[in-house]
Amino acid sequence: MLHDDLKSVLLTEEEIRTRVAELAAMMDSACAAAEQPPLMIGVLKGSFMFIADLIRALKTECAVDFMAVSSYGAKSETSGQVRILKDIGENIEGRDVIVIEDILDSGITLRYILDLLNARRPKSVKLCALLDKPARRKVPVEAQFIGFSIPDEFVVGYGLDYAEKYRGLPYIGVLKPSVYME
Ligand code: PRP
Repeated sequence: MLHDDLKSVLLTEEEIRTRVAELAAMMDSACAAAEQPPLMIGVLKGSFMFIADLIRALKTECAVDFMAVSSYGAKSETSGQVRILKDIGENIEGRDVIVIEDILDSGITLRYILDLLNARRPKSVKLCALLDKPARRKVPVEAQFIGFSIPDEFVVGYGLDYAEKYRGLPYIGVLKPSVYME
């Protein structure tokens, strides 16, 4: 049933499950020739549900690590300031890395993370974002794997929050403007 704070469902559980399986198959193909398992880096908090489902759908053996960053706080607009709250524990020099994100919006967070990781001399860095809002891009970021290109609406659920709410919804919905305009 639709949460009272949402005006519509953008992506159902079924649509997400189908697309996650497709993304996993694309990654399996991309990783087929690799000599060592890629390192999947989930960017917390928003990606936790996506990376859990993605890795279960993947046939490729992979290592997993997490980074925690924040640029939004409790606001709906990015502050433009990326804060690293937790860095990865793995040494990525010479390794194939895939960064897993829930949403690519202005691109400021991902640009920062990709530059940071590339400076550590990995063999390759790819980006997988479940959602992409191309209309909001402020800095260029190239993602090799995109789940869904979506319109510029405030989406929550499946890991995505507004002020730490709605992360546990199994689908992705559009928040009523009255909820964040108050
Ligand atoms: C979200 C999302 C990305 C970032 C994308 O994180 O997970 O990291 O915003 O936005 P950008 O392209 O405009 O930089 P958020 O700061 O909301 O933190 P959270 O994942 O902990 O909810």
